[in-house]
Amino acid sequence: MFNASKVLEPAFQEQPRSFFWQGVIANYAVDEARYLSELIPLAQSDTSEHRAVTEMATSLIKKVREQDDSVHMIDALLQEYSLDTQEGILLMCLAEALMRIPDKYTADALIQDKLSDADWKKHVGRSESTLVNASTWGLLLTGRVVKMDKRLDGSPTSIWSRLVKRSGEPVIRGAIYQAMAIMGKQFVLGRDIEEALRNARESRDMGYTYSFDMLGEAAMSKEDAARYLKDYMDAIESVGNDTYPEGKSPAPSISIKLSALHPRYEVPQQERVLRELGSTLIDLLALAREKNVSITIDAEEMDRLEISLKLFEKVFTSPVVRGWGGFGMVIQAYSKRALPVLCWLSKLAKEQGDEIPIRLVKGAYWDTEIKICQQLGLDSYPVFTRKEATDTSYLACLRFLLSDYTDGALYPQLASHNAHTVASVLAMAKNKRRRIEFQRLHGMGDALYNSILEESDIPVRIYAPVGAHKDLLPYLVRRLLENGANSSFVHRLVDAATPVEDLVQNPVDELQTYDSLANDRIPAPTHIYGEERRNSRGLNIHAAAHLDPLLNHLSRWWESNWEAAPVIGGEKKRKGRPKEITAPYDTTQPVGHVFWSSEAQAAEALEVAAAGFPAWRDRPVQDRALCLERYADLMEAHMEELMAICCREAGKTMQDGIDEVREAVDFCRYYAIQGRARFGDAMALPGPTGESNELYMEGRGVFLCISPWNFPLAIFTGQIMAALVAGNTVIAKPAEQTSLVAGRAFELMLEAGFPPDVVQLLPGDGATIGGKLTPDPRIAGVAFTGSTQVAHTLNRALAQREGAIVPL
Ligand code: FAD
Ligand code: 2OP
Repeated sequence: MFNASKVLEPAFQEQPRSFFWQGVIANYAVDEARYLSELIPLAQSDTSEHRAVTEMATSLIKKVREQDDSVHMIDALLQEYSLDTQEGILLMCLAEALMRIPDKYTADALIQDKLSDADWKKHVGRSESTLVNASTWGLLLTGRVVKMDKRLDGSPTSIWSRLVKRSGEPVIRGAIYQAMAIMGKQFVLGRDIEEALRNARESRDMGYTYSFDMLGEAAMSKEDAARYLKDYMDAIESVGNDTYPEGKSPAPSISIKLSALHPRYEVPQQERVLRELGSTLIDLLALAREKNVSITIDAEEMDRLEISLKLFEKVFTSPVVRGWGGFGMVIQAYSKRALPVLCWLSKLAKEQGDEIPIRLVKGAYWDTEIKICQQLGLDSYPVFTRKEATDTSYLACLRFLLSDYTDGALYPQLASHNAHTVASVLAMAKNKRRRIEFQRLHGMGDALYNSILEESDIPVRIYAPVGAHKDLLPYLVRRLLENGANSSFVHRLVDAATPVEDLVQNPVDELQTYDSLANDRIPAPTHIYGEERRNSRGLNIHAAAHLDPLLNHLSRWWESNWEAAPVIGGEKKRKGRPKEITAPYDTTQPVGHVFWSSEAQAAEALEVAAAGFPAWRDRPVQDRALCLERYADLMEAHMEELMAICCREAGKTMQDGIDEVREAVDFCRYYAIQGRARFGDAMALPGPTGESNELYMEGRGVFLCISPWNFPLAIFTGQIMAALVAGNTVIAKPAEQTSLVAGRAFELMLEAGFPPDVVQLLPGDGATIGGKLTPDPRIAGVAFTGSTQVAHTLNRALAQREGAIVPL
């Protein structure tokens, strides 16, 4: 098993490369606290290193703070609109969302929605920086116009409101883009590579070099990818042909985001990605090598890590890269997999005899990673949950990168704007004759690295985005998030209220002062709803740690066949010739058979359900809720089988299959809670004349639940569970196309303990079953999801009945 505390031991290092690949896979789901306890010894410094780092970091911070222009304009802006203000959050939402909106009308609607309640005015004049005020004014302008609309509100027909709607928003939109452009200028070196090369000269004269990043990521179409590829090709060409005098500063390089170069850069498309993106990359690298321009692959979302490593291996071992040493990767220290990846890469480099440049960063997608896992309902996070843990991981990776073992295999490029991290690099690298370099982002860390350039001979490379402002937004949002976070070093550095002593605390020491190494204020994704409701358990099909076991389990079900039939009073009724079911995507593939329900069976089911109603209604709601919860657990335990039926009978993708089961599980747990809250004890009402009044709710009778094919498990389950927890009995009529999913789900309901006279299943023809049941006065309600046409038919049938109105 991969053990971080052993990475410097020769015996451990002798393991084959495949051993470390297993470590990469396993560390996706590794227990955070246990893993950190392995990392800590590697990251920890001895007393003299500790002292040296503190002294160096203190001196660097003091120097930065002494410089008049040290509080960079953008830093001031970020501090002004920090994430804890409403405006900061709105700004971020807007930037992020505007980028995705192709049409102007929706962009305007969004602006109206987001800007109307932010108080931009209060920010004006609070900061000296022109940038803050420029942006504030840009936004204020828009805020004001929208506010006028608000002030006159209440009457949507007001002239003002209409004016703003017709001609106001385009002005607002322009102003916002203007404000974004002001901010963009701070982070972008040039609109094209030629301009960037010109703008780079001043810093290059100081000794800096560059890695140019052609803005663009997450291509959505082949056309986008082709455009981004052309940008990269042109950039390599221009950087290679640049005539900047040799010797003044090291040669610049190019950074590439793979998501820009392929519209389906994702694990489910792995074969295609390795083939197509692999070949694109090889073309790109051939030119880069010819022009002697080093290339670094940026690290993006965690879900792309494994596929990016496979691509890297494929391209690195190709003749185009063999013997070069100019093809590198970025490693994110916030990932629990950072160190095993470094071990794997050092093995790869040694096998081939070529050095791999490694840019070590902490990672720019942390918030996204956390949210994705919560949304997916995973057991744990692939990233650390304390800032100090990320810092500790960085130091551990740094120690490994600077060890003799990686000498000649990995070329360390250390990227950070944190003075403590930078001082740690200086202290650890001291007396080691290793070639290393520092890296910083354009528009950040200027003062810190000016000092480094002055005082050491370590090269410093600036990562500089190049491109149009419309492609900047995702990058800008990451910078805003990174700098606006109150845990971020840059944010604390510009905050004069934070003492230097606080900024130079050793993160490894700090981490160990917590009661738990993992952050207990960030609940596990399964527990985001607190104690009351467990999140439905999900899987990440982009991580081999989840995908491989899933495929293994699923393989049992690819050949299986299922049967569905009417189930009345707990008894399966197999009558007549069943209907054969095949997969919709391959009609030669059998999936099972279904016995259709007859009118007589519908009548029988109604008899049973009506007879079962009083007892079920009178059962304590707690009993009913427990049945729902047991059913949810059973569905989770049978997730793979249910997924397989969803895929094979309904033609769902694997991800849809997972989502289907999860939604069904969520319905059960949610309705169990709702049921307990609403159908428990009676509530006492005032009795003005001395009488006693009570309010309570109870079931109405038999519900007919008619569900559609497009959510064959989720909606099927949701309708039934809502009716049941309220004390009704149910006759379930699933969609004709997805009777097998319903049939298996129904078996699990009985297994979960719903009494046989409480739930009845009638697969079959809607018109036959509905036609028989809806006119019957014992049907107390109908839950239906489907076409408007059928809804009208049901409505008319129910409306024709005598007596009370029947809920539909
Ligand atoms: P610090 O403030 O010391 O550290 C911030 C880090 O702590 C962030 O990673 C943040 O996510 C993490 N953090 C904050 N709170 C928590 C928490 N509760 N639990 C765990 N971690 C937490 N990033 C990429 O992802 N891919 C790249 O390819 C990439 N390329 C870069 C290139 C260069 C030259 C530079 C300088 C940076 C690059 N980055 C990249 C961005 C980089 O990840 C951030 O700039 C960096 O994380 C900031 O680190 P710091 O040491 O400057 O700041
Ligand atoms: C980012 O794009 C710098 O690569 C890093 O956020």
